[in-house]
Amino acid sequence: MTLLALQEAHVRLNEPLPFGVCDSAGNLLLARGMIVSTEDQLQRLLDRGACLRAEEAPGFAEKTSHAVVAPKTNGVSAALRGVQQKLMSLLFEPTAHSKFCAEVASCASDLSRIATTHPDCTLFHLIRSAAHEHAIYSITHAIQTAIASHLIAQRLRWSAEERASLVCSALTMNISMTRLQGDLAAQLEPPSAPQRQAIQDHPTRSVELLEKLAVRDQDWLRTVLEHHETPDAKGYPRGLACCFEPAEVLRQVDAFMAQAIGRVTREAIYPNEAMREHFLASGRSPITAALIKEFGIYPPGTFVRLASTAVGVVLARGAEANKPLVAEIISQHGIFLTCPVPRITANPEFAICGIVNAKAVLVPINPDELYP
Ligand SMILES: [Fe+2]
Repeated sequence: MTLLALQEAHVRLNEPLPFGVCDSAGNLLLARGMIVSTEDQLQRLLDRGACLRAEEAPGFAEKTSHAVVAPKTNGVSAALRGVQQKLMSLLFEPTAHSKFCAEVASCASDLSRIATTHPDCTLFHLIRSAAHEHAIYSITHAIQTAIASHLIAQRLRWSAEERASLVCSALTMNISMTRLQGDLAAQLEPPSAPQRQAIQDHPTRSVELLEKLAVRDQDWLRTVLEHHETPDAKGYPRGLACCFEPAEVLRQVDAFMAQAIGRVTREAIYPNEAMREHFLASGRSPITAALIKEFGIYPPGTFVRLASTAVGVVLARGAEANKPLVAEIISQHGIFLTCPVPRITANPEFAICGIVNAKAVLVPINPDELYP
């Protein structure tokens, strides 16, 4: 079965579809003859990277140059860079901003919109952006936590207000140690005694600073205060048995990403191993389940070995966790492909056989080329 990326022009609203529509893994979403009746429905199909069955639409096949292309991103990279620039100033020089609250809320809103509209591409950036950006580690980390927290809260069906508050907390939870966080990410030796004390105090200091900056949202403040408290009361700063859900989301996201993405001093482990470790450490809870479902065993940005022996990078999660859409980047003959080839992993020839260590992939990966 050949799949072609569905395009807006392929579908006439309120008319029977002349072809079946599938997800990128080939699972049927809409059978031939069914009707898409609203622009909203169509947009949802386009957003999830829906494909059409080429055999049922030969006319479309002739007009389309690629068999399956990655979901369009409409400038996710540029949008993330815009938020990054704003956050640099907000987190490094917070007192210079007279409208600090509104500006953080605006960044939170931008990130939430990007993550909702293009979740796979956003996760790709989240997974692949960490390794080479230690100079602005604290900003990258804040954005990663905010995006992952938003996606989990969305999966848990929290209200828009609850999600907004959570994302603002994620962006500002370490605001009292923005510079120190960057130093810690780059230094190879363990934290000194003063650094350890600053780490211990940073939730309290962050809340004090946020209150000075006119943050009045009590959920935002409490989440920041408790984001290192744990259910077993072994966290800090107060050793509370944390039961405040937004704080628990931030704690779990932070712990998971430290393993799945890694730090300068800590090698990343494979996403499926990180998932298993995280489940063992955090136990059975709706938040843990949401995190595991959101990232899946092959989150976008993961390098994988295909049955053909080629190496690919995951572009989008599929309806089945083990059958995502993959772009082949190194052929079975070991040749780097300047034009990555999308592969349907439901096809046995391109089934995923295992994960490839990112350090073994010595080729440049540009999301803007993978998600045109
Ligand atoms: Fe923190």
